[in-house]
Amino acid sequence: MRQAGRFLPEYRKIRKKYSLIDICKNPELCAEVSALPVDILGVDAAILFADIMLPLEGMGVKFEIADGIGPVIRSSLNNFQSVKSLTTLEPDSDVPYVMEAISATKKLLDSRVPLIGFCGAPFTLASYLIEGHPTRDLLETRKLMYRSPETWHLLMDKLSTSMGTYLRAQANAGVDAVQLFDSWVGCLSPTDYHTYVLPYSQRVFSYLKGRGIPCIHFGTGTATILEEMKQAGGDVFGIDWRIPIDVAWRKLGYDVAIQGNLDPAVLLTERDLIRSRTVDILTRVGNRSGHIFNLGHGILPETPRENVRQLVEFVHEYTMSRG
Ligand code: CP3
Repeated sequence: MRQAGRFLPEYRKIRKKYSLIDICKNPELCAEVSALPVDILGVDAAILFADIMLPLEGMGVKFEIADGIGPVIRSSLNNFQSVKSLTTLEPDSDVPYVMEAISATKKLLDSRVPLIGFCGAPFTLASYLIEGHPTRDLLETRKLMYRSPETWHLLMDKLSTSMGTYLRAQANAGVDAVQLFDSWVGCLSPTDYHTYVLPYSQRVFSYLKGRGIPCIHFGTGTATILEEMKQAGGDVFGIDWRIPIDVAWRKLGYDVAIQGNLDPAVLLTERDLIRSRTVDILTRVGNRSGHIFNLGHGILPETPRENVRQLVEFVHEYTMSRG
């Protein structure tokens, strides 16, 4: 989860020469950047270098990714007409470079670790489209959802069909797992999640049925909506640090795997604290299988690389010795 970018000096050096989008559209560079954390940190999986905003270009949305801020949309979508004018994504013709990046990355990784493909979930993408820029409480999004349900459902309909075909195209191109990022969905109540989001995330996952590709369903602030998210689908649930991992597992049920959930801020501290917080998570998991150790959200830009490297090494050693 944004493990390549932001904090690795090797990545920042490449970014001095190329914009984020330039990298995304250059399959060889993408492969190189995706492999950096595998080589430098020793992580067990690579994530495709792309951004959740990328496929929106193919739907007719103009955006930029502003340094240190995030996605900014020039003309945000706030009425039925603007939503109606969005086209449905045709992955092979709209984003061929993503599929080429997958082939190039798979080749470079040479079966050392699996490659995770991904897309933004309909809700999180809708929030960027409606707000126009990152906001704290997604007020415009919630307002549109409540006030103009027809516009909302049309937008979610288009996004879910587009993201479903996009993930399916990534699976065809060779990714080993996919992750649906619903990063900001934690601002909704369970009832609103059920009405306005669930059917659409469910539809995205339906495009991968029967493919044998594990699906990871991620969000932050989701402690109160985990049961609803489970209904929407996924084999693995990504959780943040606001809920203890054992409590989240009890809520989700033991027939799913869990990814998480160290607070990324812990990586800004020192060795002993990082270790004790890590041991706490691993102890809560115990001998249960199906845990993917991860942070609860993306690595913070100011994180010392050595702390991350040591964390990966420690998790490997600790879990090996436990058998
Ligand atoms: O490890 C990786 O970097 C993998 C590629 C990746 C990027 N974005 C590239 C990127 C992935 C997996 C994403 C996902 C993404 N993008 C999400 C979902 C995951 C999450 O963390 O919640 C979201 C919400 C976005 C939207 C986005 N893109 C934001 C909010 C920002 C700015 C904040 C920041 O600095 O991360 C971006 C920019 C972005 N996308 C960067 C990278 C590496 C930042 C560094 C840069 O500009 O080069």
